[in-house]
Amino acid sequence: MGETRSRVAGIGMYVPPRVVTNEDLTRWMDTSDEWIVQRTGIRERRWVEPDVTTTDLALAAAEAALADAGVAPGDLDMLFVATLSPDHYFPGTACFVQERLGISGIPAIDVRQQCTGFIYAAAMADQFIRTGAARRVLVIGAEVHSKGLDISTEGRDVAVLFGDGAGAIVLEAVEVEDPASDRFVMSTHLHADGSGARELWVPAPGMGYERFATHEMIDDRLMVPHMNGRAVYVNAVKRMCEAVLEAVEVNGHAPDDVDLFAFHQANLRINEAVTERLGVAPERVFHTIGRFGNTTAATIPIGLAEARAAGALAEGDLVCAAAFGSGFTWGSMLLRW
Ligand code: ACO
Repeated sequence: MGETRSRVAGIGMYVPPRVVTNEDLTRWMDTSDEWIVQRTGIRERRWVEPDVTTTDLALAAAEAALADAGVAPGDLDMLFVATLSPDHYFPGTACFVQERLGISGIPAIDVRQQCTGFIYAAAMADQFIRTGAARRVLVIGAEVHSKGLDISTEGRDVAVLFGDGAGAIVLEAVEVEDPASDRFVMSTHLHADGSGARELWVPAPGMGYERFATHEMIDDRLMVPHMNGRAVYVNAVKRMCEAVLEAVEVNGHAPDDVDLFAFHQANLRINEAVTERLGVAPERVFHTIGRFGNTTAATIPIGLAEARAAGALAEGDLVCAAAFGSGFTWGSMLLRW
């Protein structure tokens, strides 16, 4: 009898069809394709139509992952939705996704760890499976950024970075007989440093003020994302490197053993710096940022789904996923695909 662990049984993604190029952005703000590509590697991103919600994107990705896994919604024991862009202030988006999947009764949990949200959610799902409390867990990362960005020149430093999209995996219990070759999630690693919380945030609305929401909050631009780009850049490179090394070393591996790195897609320059510092072959790092921008909690499942579709990810591959984001939060996971 082996040890009960989790493995990825299926994966899916969904991005809305509307493509917004860097050139398109110049209609609303003073920017250029050259500036954006040089600083970030982003060429285009997807934006939803006004009637499309985060729940819609999450559901589409979830249905694709369930179909890939051959799992019916009714077979799930719980679901997580990682998002910083919920449909409503409360309840969480996971409840709305659960309603649409028609699976009332099981726990539905929102995870608020921004760009690291998918890693946090997957780590928790893995833990529930390892303890035997759940056998099949749906883990979704989904974001609608476009509705919340300041697309005037004042907000251009942030607005050019983000796109809409969703990705999902089904994690299921597996009895691991041979840890050296079986396909399973080998370890997950989670970290945070709240002293960086105000370096990348949407300050309002909230209970940190005398009133939850005021007209002044809109006028003062407190309801759009604010970022200290330099601080994010420096910390992201440092923490992503640490997270990768932690995941591979705990499992007796070196970065060079990893077949595919699925890094959070914040900025191509961040990931190139991480790749160089770790000394790994650039062709083992899969990027989607050029086409989708930063989809926050969705970047890692979108990256894995795209990598598989492109033939860059095959069964048995050693995969390292790592992310850094607002909070600050960061984390990693090592798995055999
Ligand atoms: N288009 C044109 N010009 C711009 C834009 C834009 N979209 N945004 C800013 N600028 C201008 C600035 O106003 C500034 O002009 P000034 O020199 O006249 O004042 C100039 O460009 C340089 O601005 P910097 O902020 O110094 O530019 P920098 O080279 O640092 O690049 C960037 C900015 C790309 C945001 C960088 O700091 C960065 O990569 N930071 C990491 C942040 C990141 O990737 N966040 C993603 C979300 S967080 C996450 O997912 C982990």
